[in-house]
Amino acid sequence: MKVLVLSAHPILEASVVCRKLLAGIRREAGISVVDLYERYPDFNIDVPAEQKRLEAADVIIFQHPFYWYSTPAILKEWTDLVLEHGWAYGRDGTALEGKFLMNALSTGGSADAYGESGTNRYTIPEFLVPIAQTAALCRMTYLPPYVVFEGRRLERQALAETAGLFKDLLCGLRDDRVDPKALARYRLANNAVGKLYGPGAEGAGT
Ligand SMILES: Cc1cc2nc3c(=O)[nH]c(=O)nc-3n(C[C@H](O)[C@H](O)[C@H](O)COP(=O)(O)O)c2cc1C
Repeated sequence: MKVLVLSAHPILEASVVCRKLLAGIRREAGISVVDLYERYPDFNIDVPAEQKRLEAADVIIFQHPFYWYSTPAILKEWTDLVLEHGWAYGRDGTALEGKFLMNALSTGGSADAYGESGTNRYTIPEFLVPIAQTAALCRMTYLPPYVVFEGRRLERQALAETAGLFKDLLCGLRDDRVDPKALARYRLANNAVGKLYGPGAEGAGT
């Protein structure tokens, strides 16, 4: 499958986590990375070009830091403009049918903070419900998010490991080693590592 990564970090030069995730995949064949803030510094999004890019992709990844329990602003603007009625949704809007959508994000908050008893009260998949439903409306399958919790606090080695797992996941989807339908049964894509692919792969889901 062809993988399209739409990266949205307003200051990528100052990023630690997103930059590391992107560095691992930038030179991979069959995986294209688009830096939305670099391409559209004035938010003047080229809708036909973005739609063409989407049509050529099978898996679409929103890659971003978690900002106010959501995406940075350009991804919302991109969604508002690019996913047009009659193209992405509606009776004749079938351009995205059968494709897959996933968020790959980094947080400042810890994994413990994201749950009923944590400071943030809700899980990451709960915060991402509007994006999951956008995918459903556009007849796409929403895949569980890949989340790097507290990435800036990770030791270099641990950060490199999580970037490596992210790369394996995308390469696995690209090469049909990871079955997206099986992946969709997991709460977080991170939990599928080693179960859907890699040593001892079984494909159970949680
Ligand atoms: C404007 C802004 C909003 C943020 N909102 C959240 C948030 O809602 N939840 C959270 O866990 N972290 C939040 N953070 C922390 C970032 O997610 C974190 O610094 C980032 O993911 C680290 O990745 P980077 O090194 O690629 O920038 C926020 C940071 C900024 C600047």
